[in-house]
Amino acid sequence: MRSLNPEWSPDSFHARVAALAEIPANGKVLDLGCGKGLTLPYLLAASGPSGEVVGADRDQRSLDAIRSGFPEEIANGRLTLTNVRIDDTLPFLAERFDSIVCQNVIECIPDKGALLTDIARILKPGGVAVIGHHDFDGVLLASDDRDLTRRLVHGYADHTQEWQEVSDGQMGRQLPGLVGASPLSTAVTETVLFVDRTLSRNSYARQHLEGMVSLARESGVTDDEAGAWLARLEARAEAGQFYYALPWVYVVSRLPSP
Ligand SMILES: C[S@@+](CC[C@H](N)C(=O)[O-])C[C@H]1O[C@@H](n2cnc3c(N)ncnc32)[C@H](O)[C@@H]1O
Repeated sequence: MRSLNPEWSPDSFHARVAALAEIPANGKVLDLGCGKGLTLPYLLAASGPSGEVVGADRDQRSLDAIRSGFPEEIANGRLTLTNVRIDDTLPFLAERFDSIVCQNVIECIPDKGALLTDIARILKPGGVAVIGHHDFDGVLLASDDRDLTRRLVHGYADHTQEWQEVSDGQMGRQLPGLVGASPLSTAVTETVLFVDRTLSRNSYARQHLEGMVSLARESGVTDDEAGAWLARLEARAEAGQFYYALPWVYVVSRLPSP
C-alpha cells in the first residue's frame, strides 16, 4: 500500500525548509545551526546571484567540510561560514537578515525564549524566520511488542547526545507555544508526518531505529533484546507490515513590515 505522506529524504526536506523561508531575490539569509550544510544549496539558489547566505554553527569540522564543497560561492562572497556559539545573544547586527532558518537546533539551546528574541532582533522588518524541529518522542511505530517499542522510542528521545548541552525529544510539539510567546509571534505552524513503509537500507527510519538499538541499555533493554526487536521490524517490512511516522513541526514567522 502506498502512503500519501512523503517519506523523509534529505533533498526534498531541505528544499522544503528553504522554500518556507520566502527568500527575496538578492536576499540575505542565515542558516542558524547549519550542520553539514544540507539546506545551503537551496538557500543559495533561492537568494539568487546577488544574494548572501551565512551558515553558522559551532562544529568546525562540519564548517570545514562545507567549505570544500562551495569554493566558488565562498570566493565570490555569496556564502560565508562562521563558527558561532548559538545562545541568547547572536553575533550579528540588528536587522541584518531577510530570512533565517533554524532546523533541528533549538532543542540544544538552554534559553530558547532568549534565542527567539535575538532572532527577531537580527531579522529585518518584514523578514521571515523558519524554526523547525522533529518530535522524536512522537514517532509512530507498528510493532508486535508495544511495551518494548515504547521504551526504545522514549529512551532515544530522552537521550542527550555528547555534542548537546541540553536536549528535548518533544521539541516539535513545544515549538508553537514557544514561538507564540516570543517576538516572532506573527506565525503559522504545520505538523508534517514523514511515513516510511519499507525500512530501506539508507532510510531515515532505519537510522533512527538503529539509534534506538544503540541506546537500548539506557532504557534497561539488552543488546540481544534490541537486536531481536529490530529483526522483527525487518520481518514486518518484508511482509508489508512496517509503519514508521516521524512528526516534523515547523513555525514560519514574519515580522511586521515597517
Ligand atoms: C541536528 S543538527 C541540524 C543541522 C541542520 N540545521 C540540518 O537541519 O541538517 C544540529 C546542529 O546544531 C549545532 N549546534 C547545536 N548547539 C549549538 C550551539 N549552542 N551553538 C552552535 N551550534 C550548535 C550542531 O553543531 C549541529 O550542527
